[in-house]
Amino acid sequence: MKIPMARPLIDEETRQAVLEVLASGRLAQGPRVLEFEERFAEWNEVPFAIAVSSGTAALLLALMALGVGPGDEVITTPLTFAATANVVLFVGARPVFADIDPMTLNLDPEAVERRITARTRAILLVHLYGNPCEMEAFQELTERYGLALIEDAAHAPGALYQGKPVGSFGIGCFSFYATKNITTGEGGMITTSDPRLARRLRMLRDHGQSAKYVHEILGLNFRMTELQATIGIGQLIHIDSWNARRRALAAIYDARLRGVDKLAITPRSTPVYHLYTIRVPAGLRDVLRQRLEEAGIETGVHYPIPLYRQPLYQRLGYNDSLPVAERATQEVLSLPIHPALREEEILYVIETVNTLMDELMGG
Ligand SMILES: Cc1ncc(COP(=O)(O)O)c(C=O)c1O
Repeated sequence: MKIPMARPLIDEETRQAVLEVLASGRLAQGPRVLEFEERFAEWNEVPFAIAVSSGTAALLLALMALGVGPGDEVITTPLTFAATANVVLFVGARPVFADIDPMTLNLDPEAVERRITARTRAILLVHLYGNPCEMEAFQELTERYGLALIEDAAHAPGALYQGKPVGSFGIGCFSFYATKNITTGEGGMITTSDPRLARRLRMLRDHGQSAKYVHEILGLNFRMTELQATIGIGQLIHIDSWNARRRALAAIYDARLRGVDKLAITPRSTPVYHLYTIRVPAGLRDVLRQRLEEAGIETGVHYPIPLYRQPLYQRLGYNDSLPVAERATQEVLSLPIHPALREEEILYVIETVNTLMDELMGG
């Protein structure tokens, strides 16, 4: 048995629709991109959605549209993919790392508040593994200190906080990378309720054009193709049932895994389990991972190094040591979860983990 972490699902109608786009001759941003944006906006309960070429592009454009730049600070989490913080460096601003909550591993609002200075422009939070952040606390903070709120929702399309979709609280940034809950191969989406910001974002992704060959501001090419959008439209039809399936699988893991710590879900929220991540005592995590690999079970470590310890950040002089994040990077292990995971596969993963943990803890 070989069980992968993720398995993209593309239905037959979508395959046919992609072939039709290929035959149509219109391959770059056009009517399918517009349709995908409209459908995504409606589904995510926001007035505006802007499709872009990746989740990284979404984050970068969000900062550019807000005018974040040199001299500004953006507070974010050290337990995330590098894209989240690297985009802040790219616009010439400084990512400031705050520690995370030990139960959920999402950014800790109190730790964030302690890092706010006169230079802080925005909070860039990540709904880690598909579990929403404590949005009430973050909204309160951004209002009190007059900060922008950017939500890295790469892991969390469809996740709800108090019944409201993530990405609809601040500026939402989504990724449609191949392993994500919604995929277009590569791709991304930005959501906002602000019409002026939406207009700016549309220009920024298309060389700052307000009309053909009228370059109003400095932008780049971050457009999505018609092929990607066609796949995205096909994904939106299924995403709610796929997310429900992820929750059902997570419930099976929750009920049956023994000897490992599970993460807490933010109260009053509905997660979408982009990843199902457990904690294993530090010395055992990598041994368990190796043994699972030998048993045909692919796992992941999200993420192995707090961002401030990455060589890039060390060279920039970062010397943070945030204890909760430090410990999490030693302990986290993500198990396979995706809507195509079969009952017998998840039961095999659970049995293998339980048996190995008994053995490792006993010996
Ligand atoms: C938390 C997070 N943010 C941002 C990104 C960047 O998205 P992309 O790969 O689509 O550029 C990713 C993932 O790949 C991610 O996991």
